[in-house]
Amino acid sequence: MYNFEYQNPVKIIFGKGGIRKVGANIPKGSKILLTYGGGSIFKNGVYDQVKAAIKDFEVVEFGGIEPNPHYETLMKAVEVVKNENITFLLSVGGGSVIDGTKFIAAAACFKNGDPWDILSKRALVEDAVPHGTVLTLPATGSEMNSGAVITRMETTEKLSFMSPKVMPLFSVLDPETIYSLPEKQIANGIVDAFVHVIEQYLTFPVNSPIQDRFAESIMKTLIEEGPKVLADQNNYDAAANFMWSATMALNGLIGVGVPQDWATHMIGHELTAYHGIDHARTLAIVLPGVMHIKRKQKENKLLQLGERVWKITEGNVDERIDQTIRKTAEFFESVGIPTKLPDYNVATDTIDSICSRFEKRGYKIGEKADIGPADIRAILENRL
Ligand code: NZQ
Ligand code: ZN
Repeated sequence: MYNFEYQNPVKIIFGKGGIRKVGANIPKGSKILLTYGGGSIFKNGVYDQVKAAIKDFEVVEFGGIEPNPHYETLMKAVEVVKNENITFLLSVGGGSVIDGTKFIAAAACFKNGDPWDILSKRALVEDAVPHGTVLTLPATGSEMNSGAVITRMETTEKLSFMSPKVMPLFSVLDPETIYSLPEKQIANGIVDAFVHVIEQYLTFPVNSPIQDRFAESIMKTLIEEGPKVLADQNNYDAAANFMWSATMALNGLIGVGVPQDWATHMIGHELTAYHGIDHARTLAIVLPGVMHIKRKQKENKLLQLGERVWKITEGNVDERIDQTIRKTAEFFESVGIPTKLPDYNVATDTIDSICSRFEKRGYKIGEKADIGPADIRAILENRL
């Protein structure tokens, strides 16, 4: 196992009725900016619960944060934070609202030029407005991590940043908030969380049995509980297990002391940037190609994944790896997410655009930094 340091300061308030506790967790006298997305919180009663919980505070609202949150929209919120002397941000929604609010938190305090540099040049985030969240969509883990992914429409770029300064002070995880999710978003959440585990697991062995078995337990839980949520959205226990799995998949714990890949995400972000395909769906397209193209480098972990998660014990090495890739893709398909590029009606010249973008960036991706434009082409063509 590699050396590591791990600190996760996010307080998790888990379970039914948790939203009531929001006010008690915000510093007294704060002036709050309540951020949200396209309005789902008005339909499912979450907005009313949140407003009741913060009735003793002065509150300004900023809605309309889009899925794959837009830099252009978020910069308008930054103006509100400055003009209204906001001292606390409360985001209510899925990963997009939480990520967007992390960026607002950092950009409002950024003093070293254009806030876009936080994303494009990974400029240091020295300070951020404190932030709490009420999660309504289990998927990204953003509620308990330091990352955010932002899209700039003007340039069709989707870029990420990480900073401990934007980790939420607290996150409320009330499984009942997901009762109103469209099936498509539940499926997205299952696949996104599953691939987060894979990115931190499917690399090469470094003798880290704790991380490996934590990772396998999250994947198995998603495989067991995900379909239960899809079958009966009001199944509280399944919703709770799904929600906690998604948070655990990307709160940093399973990734400590082990190599990490993230190539599937990096390539997937380009498919969203160019075509607006939902984040999780891009991962379902890309991952099988990554598994296939990197089957030699990932051989040990592919066999371990096959044996421990998919119960594949028969056949020679190549056959077992083929079955493991097939089972993984079938799982994505089984929750309603197509895994082939043509399923999304994407023009094939997209592959050229994505490869030339990676060419210009000049660095390679993956746990061994050995995936360059030619490999990315092979990965995407594998999905044609
Ligand atoms: O905007 P509203 O009206 O709230 O509707 C949303 C949105 O349309 C809806 N929704 C959310 N909760 C709901 C609900 N509808 C009914 N009932 C509820 N309880 O769902 C739609 C999608 O929401 P969004 O927040 O976009 O989805 P998700 O949570 O999957 O977030 C995706 C974003 O997170 C980024 C992705 O790239 C993408 O931009 N990621 C962030 C990560 C991180 N911060 O660590 C890691 C991930 O890998 C990912 O990249
Ligand atoms: Zn993801």
